[in-house]
Amino acid sequence: MVTLEKIVSLAKRRGFVYPGSEIYGGLAGVWDLGPLGVELTHNIKDLWWEHFVRNHDEMYGLQSSVLMPEPVWKASGHVEGFTDPLVECKKCRKRFKEDDFTGKKCPECGGELSKPKQFNMMFKTEDAYLRPEIAQGMFVNFKNVLDTMHPAFPFGIAQIGRAFRNEISPREFIFRVREFDLMEFEYFVREPEWKKHFEKWRKEIWSWIENVGIDKKKVHEFEVPKKERAHYSERTVDFEFDYPFGRKELYGLAYRGDYDLKRHIEHSGVDLRYTDPVSGEKFIPHVVEPTFGLGRTLLAVLLSVYREDGDRVFLSLPSKISPYKAAVFPLLANKPELVKLARSIYDDLKKDFVVAWDNRGNIGKRYYSQDEIGTPYCITVDFESLEDKSVTVRDRDSAKQTRVKIGELSKYLEEKLKS
Ligand code: GAP
Repeated sequence: MVTLEKIVSLAKRRGFVYPGSEIYGGLAGVWDLGPLGVELTHNIKDLWWEHFVRNHDEMYGLQSSVLMPEPVWKASGHVEGFTDPLVECKKCRKRFKEDDFTGKKCPECGGELSKPKQFNMMFKTEDAYLRPEIAQGMFVNFKNVLDTMHPAFPFGIAQIGRAFRNEISPREFIFRVREFDLMEFEYFVREPEWKKHFEKWRKEIWSWIENVGIDKKKVHEFEVPKKERAHYSERTVDFEFDYPFGRKELYGLAYRGDYDLKRHIEHSGVDLRYTDPVSGEKFIPHVVEPTFGLGRTLLAVLLSVYREDGDRVFLSLPSKISPYKAAVFPLLANKPELVKLARSIYDDLKKDFVVAWDNRGNIGKRYYSQDEIGTPYCITVDFESLEDKSVTVRDRDSAKQTRVKIGELSKYLEEKLKS
């Protein structure tokens, strides 16, 4: 059975996720991606970009800055409204989440705790804030996109980027952290049509969940009640996942109305209305916003594809996101003729696929490690290969082995990876 401990341990052992600044004892709510984690999340981001941006002619990409000045956050309502209720120790000044510590003494020094107060969750520098959401980058660039791309209506602006939140009790591995990547778009619509677009993107979120390999049975929609919604939202549906620590938010779909553009018009004095090219009518677009945390995607994917088969552990990752598509081994690392042939196969396959080379330990160990990082196919060059010009290809999920001619290997993999 999959547990969070097993995922945390595999992620560390196999180079997916490391604690941030670990040699200095780490920093709460900060995690680093290792070599395999970077490959996997690159693949997830590419797949998301293809799913939501490249497949939609009306979607425009953006990469806006992490640092944004205070007026942006005053206009967006975050300076005032992006808060968490916390209690503070009157003696040592440490802060804790209200719900964890109501009625208790300070766990650090035993001091008395204050009544709950609202504390802002944004990180501030001298003259700017580290953005707590990437959405404002889309709103402040709305006019730039209009003026340069002349989009027809409706249209979206999408980006993938880093956000920062001063979470006072980061927890559950990469679920709640202080620095994370978001994949998100603002979809600009006419007010009377927002419900239609909301439903369309709701369905598309489900199709993404399937596309990326998250177990649909573990995902549930939750209609967020008014008092729990963000200050800008008129309606939010959360997509929750059954994590080992409970059912919690994975993604969100919000109807932001015309809140953001209206506030930026008021605060900046710039006209951010859309002009209908046919009728000349000017109006403030309304916004439907699907949002996807990258770290939570990674966690939900790992929890969905983790398999145990006796002693064997493998990640049944969809091959489109697996870090490697295949691994190539010489059966024995100390036989130059095997190494030479295996190396030439590896060099050849590398031209078309992301492949791994492994000649450490025995063949069983190599299968074990490739299984744990979710490599769909392992290719072994043995003594017979020198004679029959064939190799053994082992399928990760079934562990079945097939002999394939070296000359047909590339085509074989291409076909298999497509299915
Ligand atoms: N622009 C809308 C927005 O930022 P949000 O619900 O505050 O909405 C979006 O955050 C997504 O970011 C969430 O659905 C979740 O996937 C992820 N997320 C939020 N807080 C997070 C945290 N502290 N650590 C990791 N991921 C987080």
